[in-house]
Amino acid sequence: MKINKICCIGAGYVGGPTMAVIAKKNPNIQVTIVDINEERIAAWNDEDVSKLPIYEPGLAEIVAETRGKNLFFSTEIDKAINESEMIFISVNTPTKTYGKGKGMAADLKYVELCARNIAEVATTDKIVVEKSTLPVRTAQAIKSILHNTGSDVTFEILSNPEFLAEGTAIQDLLNPDRVLIGGESESAIESLANIYGSWVSQDKILRTNVWSSELSKLTANAFLAQRISSINAISELCEHTEANVNEVARAIGMDSRIGPKFLNASIGFGGSCFQKDILNLVYIARSYGLNAVADYWEQVIILNDHQKRRFSDNLISTLYNTVSGKKIAMLGWAFKKDTNDTRESAAIYVADHLLSEQANIAVYDPKVPSKKVYADLNYLQTRTDAENKELVTTYSDPYEALKGAHAIAIMTEWDEFKTYDWEKIYANMKKPAFIFDGRNILDKAEMTKIGFEYSSIGQ
Ligand code: UDX
Ligand code: UDX
Repeated sequence: MKINKICCIGAGYVGGPTMAVIAKKNPNIQVTIVDINEERIAAWNDEDVSKLPIYEPGLAEIVAETRGKNLFFSTEIDKAINESEMIFISVNTPTKTYGKGKGMAADLKYVELCARNIAEVATTDKIVVEKSTLPVRTAQAIKSILHNTGSDVTFEILSNPEFLAEGTAIQDLLNPDRVLIGGESESAIESLANIYGSWVSQDKILRTNVWSSELSKLTANAFLAQRISSINAISELCEHTEANVNEVARAIGMDSRIGPKFLNASIGFGGSCFQKDILNLVYIARSYGLNAVADYWEQVIILNDHQKRRFSDNLISTLYNTVSGKKIAMLGWAFKKDTNDTRESAAIYVADHLLSEQANIAVYDPKVPSKKVYADLNYLQTRTDAENKELVTTYSDPYEALKGAHAIAIMTEWDEFKTYDWEKIYANMKKPAFIFDGRNILDKAEMTKIGFEYSSIGQ
């Protein structure tokens, strides 16, 4: 099928950047991103591209170049579906918060709504592409909904999981390690392969069956998360021995079979995908009665929770077993640098724990707005909004956030933290001045020389 128009449902962290790059690389294809959230679409249409709802290096430039030419943002979902030959589903698939599979399975409510919406309004043949990460065999459910509409419209379903990482999304999209397309219909697969083919070489475009494609996405995220939990497990052992986790990571990373990436010990992984996808994998394995498989992967999450918890436990015990009434300054709230996304960020859980110990928390993050910090804490329902507001203050100037603090906790590895005037910060803090570097970004010798009581992960 020749594709002239594409519609993407879901203008989020995945849909926005992915479609912007497809539009840039395929000037002859009209790409419309639709979303039920009017405020979000309005932000995508803001004339000032620095106000786009998603911060991602390089994204604003591409939107400025393509928007209004062949890239459009709209809330007119039905119209965009009907006009397009290819529809991407890129809505969120959070972990279920109710009913069967609560806390484990992916909530497919939004995906099903999209499928029903497409079935209802389509009057011409469509290729429907799953972009959201979905449990294995979801394509079957989408297919069943689309094929039972009673109309004679033909739908082909493809799975095309996204491997972009936030903060490097544009680079990941422009130079992907691979593009994965799962499907039954060869012609539908080739229609999508042609779109990517305008900038990705054919040997990097893998064609598989639908189930392999869906499972590959979950498996890739599970393996990546497992590496982090593995090095984090070793970091705790390092803290009890004379070993240094950075040295261990370097030594093992030079083994070409292991490789150097994803070996940074940290406060624990966050983000919208790792935990959700592993829980999903665990849920699927259990539902087939594969308990040994489920237990194996669940341990990756258990270790990650342990890592976050022991960071705050260590902070409290170092501050003479009490943080009550003390100012703890957090540098960073996003789940990693170069993004304004805070989903599952370790900072939220560490802050929640410290707040339960009556700490006063000061937060500075270069990209996360104040209201998101409070929304994240309120979402946990540990305290009321008023209580969170009383105990937590957000700052737009890092030096103000750090002034008078008893301790600094580095939660995100933003590059700017390394370039601060640490002598000045030390001078303005309560003594002894503690730094808990949850990202191992500062130099221990330098910090100790200034006078800080510096501790990091795995050293
Ligand atoms: C994605 C995914 O697609 C998810 O499966 C993956 O694991 C993580 O990344 P993301 O783009 O990060 O989600 O989600 P989000 O930023 O929440 O964007 C989803 C958008 O879909 C939201 O703007 C929401 O308003 C929209 N939406 C949701 C719809 O337009 N219709 C719906 O029915 C539901
Ligand atoms: C991840 C996958 O990398 C991506 O392929 C998939 O499409 C979506 O999920 P993302 O969550 O955006 O991407 O970021 P990623 O760079 O993978 O980082 C996830 C978390 O792990 C962050 O909190 C990060 O700080 C942490 N991390 C990463 C570590 O703690 N140590 C590392 O060595 C690497």
